[in-house]
Amino acid sequence: MKLWAGRLQGQVDEKLNQLNASIGFDSRMYKQDITGSMAHARMLGKQGIIPKEDSEKIVAELGRMLEEIEAGTLEIDMSSEDIHTFVEGELTRRIGDAGKRLHTARSRNDQVALDIRLYLSDEIDRTVELAKELVRALCEVAGQHLESVMPGYTHLQRAQPVTMAHYLMAYAQMLLRDIDRLGDCKKRTRVSPLGSGALAGTTYPLDRAFVAEQLGLNGITANSMDGVSDRDFVLELLSDLSILMVHLSRFSEEVCLWCSWEFKYVTLSDSFSTGSSIMPQKKNPDITELVRGKAGRVFGDLTTLLTAMKALPLAYNKDMQEDKEAVFDALDTAQLCLEVLAPMLRTATFHPENMKKAALTGFINATDCADYLTKRGTPFRDAYSITGRLVNRCIELGTTLDALPLEEYQKLSPTFEEDVYAAIDLLTCVSQRNIPGGPAPEAVKKQIAEALAKL
Ligand code: ARG
Repeated sequence: MKLWAGRLQGQVDEKLNQLNASIGFDSRMYKQDITGSMAHARMLGKQGIIPKEDSEKIVAELGRMLEEIEAGTLEIDMSSEDIHTFVEGELTRRIGDAGKRLHTARSRNDQVALDIRLYLSDEIDRTVELAKELVRALCEVAGQHLESVMPGYTHLQRAQPVTMAHYLMAYAQMLLRDIDRLGDCKKRTRVSPLGSGALAGTTYPLDRAFVAEQLGLNGITANSMDGVSDRDFVLELLSDLSILMVHLSRFSEEVCLWCSWEFKYVTLSDSFSTGSSIMPQKKNPDITELVRGKAGRVFGDLTTLLTAMKALPLAYNKDMQEDKEAVFDALDTAQLCLEVLAPMLRTATFHPENMKKAALTGFINATDCADYLTKRGTPFRDAYSITGRLVNRCIELGTTLDALPLEEYQKLSPTFEEDVYAAIDLLTCVSQRNIPGGPAPEAVKKQIAEALAKL
């Protein structure tokens, strides 16, 4: 028997049922549906809209149902249309007429809007916790590699010397912004739409603020039509998760590269690697390839909801039911990726000797060589061109700036003296970039401390 039996007669088509039912995915909001209903019932009782005894009966029984679901003794009936129908139906089966009074002055339209807000707010907290854990892992590993000099790249060409610590902390910054964004999204999510009714509010003297207060929300929505048709907070969360996945995917791409024999800056622990069915020597970074791949899935979820929402007239339309699978999938995916990256990073072995080797070739101290001349009075543009010619000379001789004889330097500029070698030493190049945000060990140590303090 359907909720709407009365106006509609007879059995619904089985295929309609399949298309229409949302219990398969919205059952995960059982807790939010029940706590939302408890708040609504208390308010109905307080306002004298339903008898006080009925309100108390409803609240007590809903509390019991919640406990039973969590204990596994009450099973959610998957043949119900949705979680709202199941909860109300089960309540009514248990307490009769009082249960039938719960839905007074409420529509599933404002009910589902409340449920999803409460659910997403909890999931934002969980996502933030996981993101913080990854930041902690990045800080920990960075702390061990303050002096692990490696090339920084532009265009994937060796550019200037940095350290692994500095590199990792760049990703920590991205995650800190993600955490900020999620917190911002949470503010707009924690607002109560209850009282919007189907779309036009209600004639009952509801105390909307009381409902919001009981649920610890920031306030109530200002317009009933907007209250039931707004999914901005879901889109916002999907956008935030998409940006987060961009970061995780970029980091994963780095790790894939670093695991290759061409780089070998890092070896993942066996428990975070996979092998090949045919090539006995293989140890593959499937984990980071999957995180990179799963980013596309989350962007797809964002596109799904943007597309579903873009042409909807006010107010509620059933298209909006599509918000759930999209945002649940995005949350599950992003959370799993965060969960797997932190221990993967903590158990990985870094190879500073290979980073150093890469840093020694590729002339990444050329800027420092030009700066050496500039600091001794040569105009920067001249110093730049002299150093360019020095690099060419090194390539001719098959050597590096560090090993090029002083006569070669002096042929191009008499300003060069023996101390040029100290000036272009890789660790010197890094430690002299001791400005806020720079790669010098001192500067990165500060970055790490500030990042940890933010958590
Ligand atoms: N399952 C629906 C959703 O997710 C609940 C609201 C149903 N409202 C309605 N008028 N049929 O949006």
